[in-house]
Amino acid sequence: MIVAVPKEIKKGENRVALTPDVVKLLIKSGFTVRIESNAGQNASFSDENYIAAGAEVVQNTSDVWSNADVLLKVNPPSVSEAKMVKQGSILISFMYAYTIPDVLAILNERKAATFSMDAVPRISRAQKMDALSSQTNLAGYKAVIAGANASGKILPLMMTAAGTISPAKVLIFGAGVAGLQAIATAKRLGAIVEVTDVRPETKEQVESLGGKFLTVDAAGGKMEGGYAREVSKEFLEKQQALIQQRIKEMDIVITTALVPGKKAPVLVSEDMVKSMKSGSVIVDMAVEWGGNCALSQKDTTVTAHNVIIIGESNLPSHLPVNASELYARNISTLLLHLATSEGFKWEMEEEITKGSLITHQGATVHTFTNEILAKMAK
Ligand SMILES: NC(=O)c1ccc[n+]([C@@H]2O[C@H](COP(=O)([O-])OP(=O)(O)OC[C@H]3O[C@@H](n4cnc5c(N)ncnc54)[C@H](O)[C@@H]3O)[C@@H](O)[C@H]2O)c1
Repeated sequence: MIVAVPKEIKKGENRVALTPDVVKLLIKSGFTVRIESNAGQNASFSDENYIAAGAEVVQNTSDVWSNADVLLKVNPPSVSEAKMVKQGSILISFMYAYTIPDVLAILNERKAATFSMDAVPRISRAQKMDALSSQTNLAGYKAVIAGANASGKILPLMMTAAGTISPAKVLIFGAGVAGLQAIATAKRLGAIVEVTDVRPETKEQVESLGGKFLTVDAAGGKMEGGYAREVSKEFLEKQQALIQQRIKEMDIVITTALVPGKKAPVLVSEDMVKSMKSGSVIVDMAVEWGGNCALSQKDTTVTAHNVIIIGESNLPSHLPVNASELYARNISTLLLHLATSEGFKWEMEEEITKGSLITHQGATVHTFTNEILAKMAK
């Protein structure tokens, strides 16, 4: 089977789906690997590195796409990429399938089978394939670094002959994968960290990392499969009142609040931004899904009311070496779970296969995707 890796075309994307080390592993498992020239360049993996690992480096983009049995990518295919997919071939990448119905239509026309990395069930058996976690974990780290970099202040307490600098205060919204790593990173840098989440069970995790959990006196989110699905109005109102008080003191605010399949809740209003200290920084990690801050703009840094608001939607791409290394491990583990070099197993009732398969034999078969698309069509 020919496994091919195209160069990512999304603006600002530095990651690549396979690293030379993982290429070696796939070749050892019997696959042939072809990679587009310069696909790994921005992640510091040269064509020579891939050749040394045993891959064939291909110059022509459409050659990569149209001669692959399996395509491995980071970002969802664009319309023009989907049109290059060979009839009946297989594609694995992040898809956020409900956001690309036009692409799904083309892939179905071509009877391409697609598996989405963001749809891999979050069960312990699939932890090694969990690219959402691996990338979001890095993003949580980078959010703190980006916030610290934009701030005119240091994070730790510093006692000098010229005077004492008190530690920075960091407020984090959401203690999921991104939030927990952000807490750990901000603590390592010496900040005082406060955290809000709708899931009361996160309190213990927050505290074990040295953060202070802001408890809201109301029932939190309705849970499903470990995710918050719905948040009560009462909770949001009480949370807003508490945040209004705390946010005034903060130097850096990192927002990661998300309920999957929904627009991100707006938790930092313009009035709250106005109340913040001059020179403080907000890093809105949920900007891709509409943003947790009313003033954030996707892929732009804006300054409003003397507050710097960072809306970078692709933080993992700013750590392309580690992000590619972890992603390559995730995607190759999924591939080796689904297939051998002889072909795909198509175990349709198996949980990981069923959970991540988006299109198959000309139809979109993924239940969650179909539910969201049906809601959007109404
Ligand atoms: N900007 C980037 O580069 C980048 C990279 C990766 C992930 N992300 C984004 O970061 C966000 C978090 O990702 P994750 O994997 O940690 O998600 P997650 O589902 O693990 O965590 C989200 C957390 O937000 C909490 N939450 C929901 N509503 C809330 C509310 N009203 N107040 C406080 N907390 C609330 C949830 O309970 C959950 O703990 C997502 O929006 C994701 O798309 C951004």
